[in-house]
Amino acid sequence: MLNIKKRIAEKIIERVKAINEAAQIDTAELMGMLEYPPDANMGDLAFPCFKLSRTLRMAPPKIAEAISDGFELDCVSNVSAVNGYLNIKIDNGYLGEVILPEILDKKESYGAPTYLGEGKTVVLDYSSPNVAKPFHIGHLGTTVIGHSLKKLHEFAGYKCIGINYLGDWGTQFGKLIVAYKLWGDKAQIEEGGIDKLVELYVRINNTIKGDEEQGIEARPDLADQARAEFHKMEIGDEENIALWKWFVEISLAEYEKTYKQLGIEFDSYKGESFYTDKMPAQVERLREMGLMKIDDGASIVDLEEYGMPPCLILKRDGSTLYPTRDIAAAVYRKNEYKFDKAIYVTSNQQILHFKQWFKVVELMGYDWYDQLVHIPYGTVSLNGAKLATRTGNVVLLKDLFALAIEKVKGIMAEKNPDLANNEEVAEAVGVGAIVFYYLTNNRIKDINFNLEDALSFDGNTGPYVQYTYARTCSVLEKVTENYGGKVVITSDEEAALLKTLCQYEERVLTAIRDYEPSTITRFILDVAVAFNKFYHECSILNAENNDVRGTRILLTEATRYVLGSAFSLICMKKTERI
Ligand code: ARG
Repeated sequence: MLNIKKRIAEKIIERVKAINEAAQIDTAELMGMLEYPPDANMGDLAFPCFKLSRTLRMAPPKIAEAISDGFELDCVSNVSAVNGYLNIKIDNGYLGEVILPEILDKKESYGAPTYLGEGKTVVLDYSSPNVAKPFHIGHLGTTVIGHSLKKLHEFAGYKCIGINYLGDWGTQFGKLIVAYKLWGDKAQIEEGGIDKLVELYVRINNTIKGDEEQGIEARPDLADQARAEFHKMEIGDEENIALWKWFVEISLAEYEKTYKQLGIEFDSYKGESFYTDKMPAQVERLREMGLMKIDDGASIVDLEEYGMPPCLILKRDGSTLYPTRDIAAAVYRKNEYKFDKAIYVTSNQQILHFKQWFKVVELMGYDWYDQLVHIPYGTVSLNGAKLATRTGNVVLLKDLFALAIEKVKGIMAEKNPDLANNEEVAEAVGVGAIVFYYLTNNRIKDINFNLEDALSFDGNTGPYVQYTYARTCSVLEKVTENYGGKVVITSDEEAALLKTLCQYEERVLTAIRDYEPSTITRFILDVAVAFNKFYHECSILNAENNDVRGTRILLTEATRYVLGSAFSLICMKKTERI
């Protein structure tokens, strides 16, 4: 549609110049003024003429009439002036002869605005769980929003580096080591994986705190021990380092399973531990620049002037903090990847943290501070489904996925009991349902998961759109002959489908501009609705003649490309059968 909009805009400008030669309007600006009318009867695009009434010193209805006079363009079949609006109808023939072949030619790269990112690099920091703490549904946001943003940027021609900034350093490892030495069992952990580590972690925390109700006395001494064990790690104690590596390995193996279900791979797993030796130089720079103040023994950067609490750099005992590491990591990444943009995806609870250390980077004189972007999202909760967890109140991501997969299997056993590779399909549909449901909302909104809704096959769900994709595949599977013929668009449904498909590029641009994967989710729904309407209203394989049949098959193929491409942008796997 962008190309169509551009040509319409140029034509409007040409007409405006005919009214007043001196009028100055830029094509891009004018393209931005074109609207999609709420009601298709009003046309496919509308141009509100009141925006020009000042420039032209004319009343909007007069402008609309003057522009529509002699407005001729091959991609437009009709223009009408209504109440100061120019209503524009796109030509069906053009859709069939120009848009459809373009989609078929570009296949899954149709709609890719590769001019946007050409020669530019983006690093994306996302998922980044804290090792040995539970990987819970709160991590769904950073993981799928982060990966979608990566896919979107890649689609737009950027070189992308996905970084899993593992929380693999810190006093929690001291705690884990103490717990392991007290209660751990090597074989059990090797067998039970991360769950056993989380168990140990939960147990040590509970023991340190104690539990009055249960008459368990608090053991704060264990916290001191944990600090000592972590200190040993910091000075390279072999035994502790070996334990730490083992804990990280076990955790990673577990995360990988979840990432694989989502089809996610990272380019780097440099976690917090990697930056240990990179922090002193930045701390030194802060000190030299006179940016650091001592406050109650701790070193801070005062941000009062900017309306924020101070950014903590060093604790009283000289140890570094979360912001210190983020600053060092950003400097390292800038040097390593020469990024044009660095995106961090975390929950909205970290908004202040990012604002603070971004400011510190600016104060440190790094002129790339404005290339740092924090993308927050709302909280995720779950009700309706009671998930038994071994770890207290949190719902583990893998348990949520497992439950969704199991439910899909149940549905499939009823609907399509003979399906081959049903394990694979159930995983794609189950996990896809969760992802889709999650990404239907604006990212900043809090969301409450309802598994029944997410898994429903009707409604605006993952299973519904995956079913639609499978439908395109099953139609195409039945076609054996060569179906190239003359393209003829003979119905509103066919035209409406093409008009939806050709909005892809615009939607991708909006999604990138707003860092909002839900734009793509909604686009997928629009395509699915338009395709299903077409499918129900127009007979495809039994169409009245060969040209109509061929055209409808091509439309189905075009839909399959666009849906498949859009699915991959939101980390949803496609499945040819359901
Ligand atoms: N590990 C952190 C957490 O789970 C998220 C890290 C986000 N990335 C960053 N560069 N701070 O809260």
